[in-house]
Amino acid sequence: MRVDIRPFGKDPAGQPADLITLTNARGESVSLTNFGGHIVSLMVLGRAGSLGEVCLGQDSAEDYARRDIGYMGGTIGRYGNRIGGAAFTLNGEEYPLYANDGRNTLHGGKEGFNRKLWAYEVEESGVVMRYTSPHMEEGYPGELAVTVRFTFSEQAELRIDYRATTDRDTQINLTNHAYFNLGNSPDILGHTLWIDADQVIEVDGELIPTGAMLPVEGTPYDLRTPQPLGEVMQREDNAMFAAAKGFDIGYVLNGSGMRQIARLHDPDSGRVMTVSTDQPGVQCYSGQGFNCGGRAGHRYCAYAGIALETQQHPDTVHQPSFGSTLLKAGDVYQTATVYAFSAQ
Ligand code: BGC
Repeated sequence: MRVDIRPFGKDPAGQPADLITLTNARGESVSLTNFGGHIVSLMVLGRAGSLGEVCLGQDSAEDYARRDIGYMGGTIGRYGNRIGGAAFTLNGEEYPLYANDGRNTLHGGKEGFNRKLWAYEVEESGVVMRYTSPHMEEGYPGELAVTVRFTFSEQAELRIDYRATTDRDTQINLTNHAYFNLGNSPDILGHTLWIDADQVIEVDGELIPTGAMLPVEGTPYDLRTPQPLGEVMQREDNAMFAAAKGFDIGYVLNGSGMRQIARLHDPDSGRVMTVSTDQPGVQCYSGQGFNCGGRAGHRYCAYAGIALETQQHPDTVHQPSFGSTLLKAGDVYQTATVYAFSAQ
């Protein structure tokens, strides 16, 4: 694996950030920046044997600090997705959080992990990024030491291993917010998507879970056989789907342990991406809110890319039936996701 490092501009505090590119023997590459642990670029082979970009990106750390980019490619923490009412109670104490999404908190609050400068080390075929989140940062208790290891393989698999420890009990839900577009079209409406889930998380008008899990049967959310996204997007028979103008939903994944949970395919380029994870859920967001500039003068508009954010279910802090996002002092948080690329 070849590793190249170059300057990538400065974070909001004026500290220099780097762009680290890992290139395999086939010439496929992943580029990452230690500002916010962003996936900046993923170049993989298509059917015709030519390299192509498969994720949305920006040109500099300054661009990744913009608020209009929809968390594009960022490492999300301390708590991915929404916490209703921007507060939670732990061990009898109430912890108010920053409400950055109406009355609720989203993707870590005001200055999430996607806006921090991470320390990093280069390994044989990967990069390890480290960030220590101080006790009470963004309102969360516990000094949290986080490691995110990105590994790229000769077969174009990008693996992300998350690990964290804390000195006080806390809540944690880490993910990555990459948006994928496997083809050359400005949107993903020509892609097909399969997600191995029989149920989704019901949400209210503020996208906060009600506590119910709904069967996907008969709804636009049913991706148990691969569905053409452009056709699904036309559907008007589901209030939740219509209100969100597409996918913005937590899937309750079938099975447990490390398993393949999703497959995105672009019939035009022949590119395929599979997603494997050990997590119980994936937030599928079809990028309907996009209207921003991107790499090399690109304009990203609605459905420019699709995010498949592996994670624990949203608002698990308030929904014990969803599982637990509690990390106890002394315990180790560990989870992994693999995005694997091929062509057919
Ligand atoms: C959320 C969307 C939100 C988007 C922001 C997604 O993870 O589910 O509701 O608009 O992030 O980019």
